[in-house]
Amino acid sequence: MKQIIFALILISAVVFNFVSCKKKDGNVSTYNATNWGFKIPANFPLPNYTFENNAQTIDRFGLGRLLFYDNILSLNNKISCSSCHAPDHAFSDHNVALSAGIGGVLGTRNAPSLSNLAWYPAFMWDGGVNHIEVQPMVPLTSPTEMNETMANILAKLNANTNYKNLFKKAYDVDVITDQVLLQALAQFTSMLISADSKYDQYIAGTASFTDAEKTGLDIFRNKCAGCHTEPLFTNFSYENIGLDMVSVDLGRQLITQNPLDRGKFRVPSLRNVAKTYPYMHDGRFFTLSQVLDHHINGALNNGITDSTLLQLTPLTSAEKLDIIQFLNTLTDIQFMVDPSLADPTH
Ligand code: HEC
Ligand code: HEC
Repeated sequence: MKQIIFALILISAVVFNFVSCKKKDGNVSTYNATNWGFKIPANFPLPNYTFENNAQTIDRFGLGRLLFYDNILSLNNKISCSSCHAPDHAFSDHNVALSAGIGGVLGTRNAPSLSNLAWYPAFMWDGGVNHIEVQPMVPLTSPTEMNETMANILAKLNANTNYKNLFKKAYDVDVITDQVLLQALAQFTSMLISADSKYDQYIAGTASFTDAEKTGLDIFRNKCAGCHTEPLFTNFSYENIGLDMVSVDLGRQLITQNPLDRGKFRVPSLRNVAKTYPYMHDGRFFTLSQVLDHHINGALNNGITDSTLLQLTPLTSAEKLDIIQFLNTLTDIQFMVDPSLADPTH
C-alpha cells in the first residue's frame, strides 16, 4: 500500500513537472518563489554553510539546479551529478553498491545520499573535502566519475549561450570561471534539505508513532544515537565498526596518515535510509536487517573497532524489527518528489 501511494505521488510529481516547466533554461517556474529560500528546520542546529560570499538568490539556485542535472559537465557528455545522486533515491545512486562513471568504470565507494549538506563540516566517507563549494571538484575530475578537466568544462560552458546568459544574470560575470561554477552548484546542493519525515512530524507533535516505532526510537536512542545523533542522525565522527579484520579501503587514514584511522569512515546520516540501500562505504549490505546483524551482533574486533559497539548487548529479533520500523519513519517523501529539486528540463 505504501509503495502504491509513493508511486502515485511520484507520478503526479512527474506530471506536475511536465506541465509546469516548459522551458529548458533553468527557470524556477516549478515552485512558488515567495515561499522559497534556505530555512533552518525547527529541530535543527545552526548550519555550517552560511552562503558567505555566495549570497543566495533564486537565479543562482536555478542555475545550480540546471548544472546538477546536466551531462555537459562530464567528459563524454553522458553523466550528470544526478546519474549517481537521484532524487527518488534521496539523491543516492539507483540501488547499486558502486557507481559507474565514464565508460562504465566503477568507483570504490557507495554514492551517499545527499541531504542537509549545509550542516556538514566535511564531505566524503573519509572527510577528505571540507567545503561544500570545493566538493564538486572531486566528481568532476575523478577518472571513475565524470573524468573531465576544469579547463574543458569551462570551455564548454563559455561556448554555450544559454549558460553564458544564466551566469551573467546570476553572478554578473562575462566569463564563467571555476569559482562561479562551484558556487552555483553549492547553491543547489545546500538546498537539499530533508526535514519533513514522519520522525520530524513526531518531534513537532503533528504525527504519532506506533508502539513499535516508539520502542524502536527508545532502543535507537540507547544504542545508536551516540554516533547517529539526532536530528541529522550523524555526529560527523569517523569510526571503524569492525566490518573487516583488515580494511582494504584505508578510509580516514588516507586523510590523517594515522594507521589507527584505518578503516574508519564518517558516520553516515540515516535520513531516508530505507531508500538509500545498499549500505556502508562499499555498499556491501543490501538490507537494514543485514546492517543491524553486523552492527550489533557481528562487529569484528580488529583492534581499531569502536569499543562501545563491541560492548553492545545483542538485539533480540523483536528489537531489530522495532528499530527497522523506527528507521522507516526517517523517509521524507516530500523531499524526494519536491518539484523545486527535480530536473528542470523534464
Ligand atoms: C559516478 C558517480 C558520481 C557522480 C557522477 C557524482 N557523484 Fe557525488 N559521490 C559519488 C560517490 C561514490 C561519493 C562518495 C565518494 C567518497 O566518499 O570518496 C560521492 C560523494 C558526494 C558528496 C559528499 C556527500 C557526503 O555525504 O559527504 C557530495 C556533496 C556529492 N557527491 C555531490 C556531487 C555533485 C555536486 C556531483 C556533480 C558535480 C556529483 N556528486 C557527481 C558518486 C558520484
Ligand atoms: C560507534 C558508532 C556507531 C554506532 C554506535 C552505530 N553506528 Fe551505524 N554506522 C556507523 C558507521 C561509522 C557507519 C558506516 C561504516 C562504513 O561504511 O564503513 C554506520 C553505518 C550504518 C548504517 C548504513 C547507512 C548507510 O547509508 O550506509 C545504518 C543503517 C546504521 N549504521 C544504523 C545503525 C543503528 C540502527 C545503530 C544502533 C543499533 C547503529 N548504526 C549504531 C557508526 C555507528
